[in-house]
Amino acid sequence: MNILVNRQRFPVAPEWQDDTLLAVLREHLGLVGTKFGCGAGQCGACTVLLDGLTQRSCLLPVGAVQNRSIETVDGLAGADGSLHPVQQAWLDERVPQCGYCQAGQIMATVALLRQDPAPSEAKVNEAMSGNLCRCGTQQRIRAGVQRAVVLLEQRS
Ligand code: FES
Repeated sequence: MNILVNRQRFPVAPEWQDDTLLAVLREHLGLVGTKFGCGAGQCGACTVLLDGLTQRSCLLPVGAVQNRSIETVDGLAGADGSLHPVQQAWLDERVPQCGYCQAGQIMATVALLRQDPAPSEAKVNEAMSGNLCRCGTQQRIRAGVQRAVVLLEQRS
């Protein structure tokens, strides 16, 4: 089998096929932007996009994602190294503290703003509620989302 990650096809060796998507991404494909947090589907650190929707990758068997489009934080920047507007917004607002949860936070924001480019505060809170941050950066994450709204609008 093979999987489509960041618009690129990768073969999945037979010995990997019982692994989770997160393990395959990190340990076999070297795409280490996505993080292992709780490993129990609770924290959101492992969030990727599956056909454009947020998906926790730590419990998902890789066999379940064949022929689906997987996006990870590793693929957000342009081929020329230019940052995705959400990544730029995170830098502008100095969002991360330890940074461990931030790949998941960024992917949740990308999914939200594709669906709703000008979300209400309530919608942002709802969309981000599944991604925990133990450093307490929630206010800066909200500021990052709002900055990303502006950057995306300027780009369009
Ligand atoms: Fe997957 Fe925490 S590592 S939800």
